[in-house]
Amino acid sequence: MERLPHIIETQQFTVKWLEEDFFPLVEKMERMVKSKGIIPFFRYFLMRRALTGKNVVNFFYGASTRTRLSFEFATVQLNGRSFSTDNAGVTSSAVKGEHIRDTAKVISGYDAPDVIVLRTPISPRGTEEIRIKDAVPFSSVPIINAGDRNEQHPTQALIDLYTVKKEKGRIANLTIGFGGDIGWSRTVKSLVYLAAKYPGVKFIFISPDVAKIGDDIKNHLRECDVPFEEVYDVREVAHLLDVYYVVRIQAENDMEGRKSQLSRRGPPAFWTANKEVLDLLPKNAIIMHPLPRSEDELPYETDEDDRAKYFKQAQYGEYVRMALLLIILTKKRREIFLRKTNPLVF
Ligand code: NCD
Repeated sequence: MERLPHIIETQQFTVKWLEEDFFPLVEKMERMVKSKGIIPFFRYFLMRRALTGKNVVNFFYGASTRTRLSFEFATVQLNGRSFSTDNAGVTSSAVKGEHIRDTAKVISGYDAPDVIVLRTPISPRGTEEIRIKDAVPFSSVPIINAGDRNEQHPTQALIDLYTVKKEKGRIANLTIGFGGDIGWSRTVKSLVYLAAKYPGVKFIFISPDVAKIGDDIKNHLRECDVPFEEVYDVREVAHLLDVYYVVRIQAENDMEGRKSQLSRRGPPAFWTANKEVLDLLPKNAIIMHPLPRSEDELPYETDEDDRAKYFKQAQYGEYVRMALLLIILTKKRREIFLRKTNPLVF
């Protein structure tokens, strides 16, 4: 089968590709979107039309605000067309029990789509899981994982790493703290796999016992000799952090009363990025969050702090997704992507 530039998990990317091809292209997208006026109009004339005639299908089983809209805006910025289903878990034939493999086969079989952007939710207990990997062998066009259950969210990790690079100036040798319901967070998993590829990066995981980072990640870090530690209270380690990445409690998935488990079981844990923690973080640290947030982990007053970068992080999403669509949908960049990233075998 022809190798397609699917984007499924962050293990597939290489630092070489990120640094030489991807981040420079994202910067170009950012410059293009931000520059207004007649000279930039002509300078970027062709680039702004790069996706003319290309169709992007956003098929989202699970809830989304940023990911779906930023894929739509990214498509429009480059003059492509976007087709979206909202809440496909309720409104598509998934309700009638259609398997994702048939859905992928049918959508990619129309004489139109050039890429399918997919998001799957955590399935309620007792129901069959909808997994993006099951769709890949049955799709004749590239698939982009836009959030797969509590497994991976690779495009968010690309946004997160781009944010770190822009706001800290580098990725190597940074200490990154992750706080909250991290064991269940697909954005944390994807970002750890990706950031671990850079030399000198250290991780500190801050969570109660029930939300600990998974053994799969820890084993991977051990194999790659990437240092990490696990603590309960961010106040013990805040002074060491270059980046504090907080995530919300995945309460809507209510895996046996997740919110109450998190507050009750194990030794007391503390991860809220509040005023007390802001005072302990280094002056040049940055605070990130994939959003949506809750005030439990990220009070609104933190937004006033110059180190709060999560709204910028959300904005970068549009440029990152523009660059990704360009790579997948334009021949030359697609060839470079296939050459420089790790092949995925399904
Ligand atoms: C995240 C997600 O959907 O995984 N949001 C996002 O895509 N920016 C984070 C979350 O839901 O907690």
